[in-house]
Amino acid sequence: MTFSRSFKNILVTGGAGFIGSNFIRTILTKTEFSGRIINLDKLTYAGNAFSLNDVVEKFPERYVFRQGDICDKDLVAALFSEYKIDAVCHLAAESHVDRSIEGPEAFINTNIIGTFTLLDAARQYWDGNFDNKLFHHVSTDEVYGSLGEMGFFFEDTSYDPRSPYSASKASSDHLVMSYFHTYGLPVTMTNCSNNYGPYQFPEKLIPVMIEKMLEEKDLPVYGDGKNIRDWLFVEDHNTAVWAVMQDGTLGDTYNIGGENEWENIKLVHSLCEVVAVEIGKDKEYFKKLISFVKDRPGHDQRYAINCDKLKSELRWKQSVTFDEGLVQTVKWYLENRKWIDNIKSGEYLKWMELNYSDRKN
Ligand code: NAD
Ligand code: TYD
Repeated sequence: MTFSRSFKNILVTGGAGFIGSNFIRTILTKTEFSGRIINLDKLTYAGNAFSLNDVVEKFPERYVFRQGDICDKDLVAALFSEYKIDAVCHLAAESHVDRSIEGPEAFINTNIIGTFTLLDAARQYWDGNFDNKLFHHVSTDEVYGSLGEMGFFFEDTSYDPRSPYSASKASSDHLVMSYFHTYGLPVTMTNCSNNYGPYQFPEKLIPVMIEKMLEEKDLPVYGDGKNIRDWLFVEDHNTAVWAVMQDGTLGDTYNIGGENEWENIKLVHSLCEVVAVEIGKDKEYFKKLISFVKDRPGHDQRYAINCDKLKSELRWKQSVTFDEGLVQTVKWYLENRKWIDNIKSGEYLKWMELNYSDRKN
C-alpha cells in the first residue's frame, strides 16, 4: 500500500555532512515540498556548514541551521516544539570505518545514544498523534556483514555487523524498529551501499584517491585491492530516501544500491583514467602511484545490494551511470578547491598521518 505523505517541517540531522548536504539541496527544489528544513548538525570534523552556503542564499525562509549534538536531549526536545517538526530524516552519524577502529566511543555515543535521543524526543513530542508524521532512519548495507563471491543483501538478510561502525549502525536500526513495534512510532528505514559524489569528506576511498592523485602522492590501496563495494551516486541515494519518506510502508526497510560492484583496485584504475583525462596527464603516471598497504583489520570482503523491493514498490531507479558519476565527481573536486582547502587543516592532516603511517608495508 502506498501513501503520498507531505511534510511541513523536516528535521534533518547531519545535514552538513556529505549525504545530508546533498539531500537538503535536492529536497528544497522538489515541487512537491514547500515546507522548511531544519538542519541539526554538531559540525564534527566531517560536518561543514560551508557546503550549504548556496542553500542559505537561495532559501532564506525555508532553511534553518542549528549547530548541536543529537545526544543533547533538551536541545532536541526544544527543536521539535520550536519548529513543529512533523518528519525527521536522520543522517547524523560517525560514518568512517577506519576511525571506528581507532576510536569507537564516538560511534557508540552518536550512532546509538544519539538515535535513541531522537526517537524518544519524537515519541514524546508527537505523543501518540502520529498522523502525517514520519521518522526516517538512514542506514547502511554494512549492518549485513560481509559477502563471499556470491549472493546479495536482501531486506531480510540477518544482521552480522563486523566493525564498531557497522555494529553501532545495527544497534541504531534495532532501536528504530523497536520504537515502531513498541510505541507505534511511524518509521521507515533505508540501508544503502557505498555513496560517492560531490562534498564527500576526503577520508573515504574515492575522494582520498582524487586528492592523492592531485598531490602526486602514493595511492594507498588496502590489502590486495580485491575487496568489492557496490557504488551509488549520492543524488540517486537521496531520491530513493525521498521516495521512501513519501511512499514507503511504515515499519519497513528498503535496500538502496547501485547494482554496480567494483573491486577496489579496478575502481582506482578507472579513477586514474578519469583524473588523467580531466587534467591532461598520462594515466599510466597515476597507475604507477598505486601502493598496496596494510589491510584494514576485519576488512569486509564484499558488499552487494539487492534493491528489487525499492524498484518494484516505489518505482525508483538509478539515474547516473558510474562513468558519468565518476566524471562529475572528479570535475567537482577540481572545481571546488576552496571547499577542499578549508578541510585540509591540522585535524585532517593528523588523521591522514595516523591512518596511513602504520599501513606502510
Ligand atoms: P558524514 O560523516 O559525511 O556526515 C555526518 C554528519 O553528521 C556530519 O555533518 C557531522 O557533523 C554530523 N554529526 C556527527 N555526529 C553528530 C552528532 N552527535 N550530532 C549532530 N550531528 C552530528 O556522513 P555521510 O557519509 O553523509 O553519511 C550520512 C548517513 O548515511 C550516516 O548515517 C551513514 O551511516 C549513512 N550512510 C552513508 C553511506 C556512505 O557511503 N557515505 C552509505 C550508506 C549509509
Ligand atoms: P571506504 O570509502 O572507507 O568505505 P567503506 O569501508 O565504508 O566501504 O572504503 C571503501 C573501500 O576502499 C574499502 O574496501 C576500503 C578501501 N580503501 C582503500 O583501499 N584505501 C583507502 O585509502 C580507503 C579510505 C579505503
